[in-house]
Amino acid sequence: MIEARNLTFKVVAAGGEVNILRGIDLEVGRGEAVGIVGPSGSGKTSLMMLLAGLERPSGGVLTVAGADLPAMDEDALARFRRDQLGIVFQAFHLIPTMTALENVAVPLEFAGRADAFERAGKALARVGLGHRLDHYPGQLSGGEQQRVALARAVVAEPSLLLADEPTGNLDRATGLMVMDLLFDLRVHLGTTLLLITHDPALADRCERQLSMADGQITSDSLVAPQTMLSA
Ligand SMILES: Nc1ncnc2c1ncn2[C@@H]1O[C@H](COP(=O)(O)OP(=O)(O)OP(=O)(O)O)[C@@H](O)[C@H]1O
Ligand SMILES: [Mg+2]
Repeated sequence: MIEARNLTFKVVAAGGEVNILRGIDLEVGRGEAVGIVGPSGSGKTSLMMLLAGLERPSGGVLTVAGADLPAMDEDALARFRRDQLGIVFQAFHLIPTMTALENVAVPLEFAGRADAFERAGKALARVGLGHRLDHYPGQLSGGEQQRVALARAVVAEPSLLLADEPTGNLDRATGLMVMDLLFDLRVHLGTTLLLITHDPALADRCERQLSMADGQITSDSLVAPQTMLSA
């Protein structure tokens, strides 16, 4: 699903060039769940932005779901995101002037699906929000908004789900509920998952864990099955 070789990402800031990712080598197979941990500023979000084709690498090889991202133009990258990716961020990024149902239907409408609203309704029911279809984001709690964002991320049945601190803005109990849903959806869809989290207990729910520090991957380990069961 993901192949990165010597992937680098630099930006030019006021103080000069900043090396944000410094040679990432990574292979992720279809269906894997990978937790990514690491200190603030270690490059986790930057890596996710490259994988999503939302930022361009400065160097190296990057193939995601068979797509050679560095070789693609903006239109091709937008189609790649639409067809292959689901993305969930810490901030929910819902469109405030659209209802829950409309927010979830957007990616399907972009894809020209005639059944966009029917499928969006089903996705919202799956995250327990079948009774909130006509509510606007401002009329929903934080946990409900993130469940709408989750429904939107999975409605087109993506092959890769990228989640960056999806429970970072939620209290612990609500966060756990959203996380349970995320893992349920992953099992239901058989999608590959990359989950960035500060919470080691949440990362433990992924069968594989990466640690990042200072723009590099510093460890890559498989979690013992008994640890996953007790998590
Ligand atoms: N556009 C940019 N210009 C300058 N520096 C940047 C830019 N984007 C990211 N950085 C820097 O790159 C480093 C990595 O940032 P990134 O957001 O990837 O970290 P992170 O691991 O996701 O951190 P956190 O856990 O706080 O979310 C940080 O030091 C950040 O300040
Ligand atoms: Mg981050």
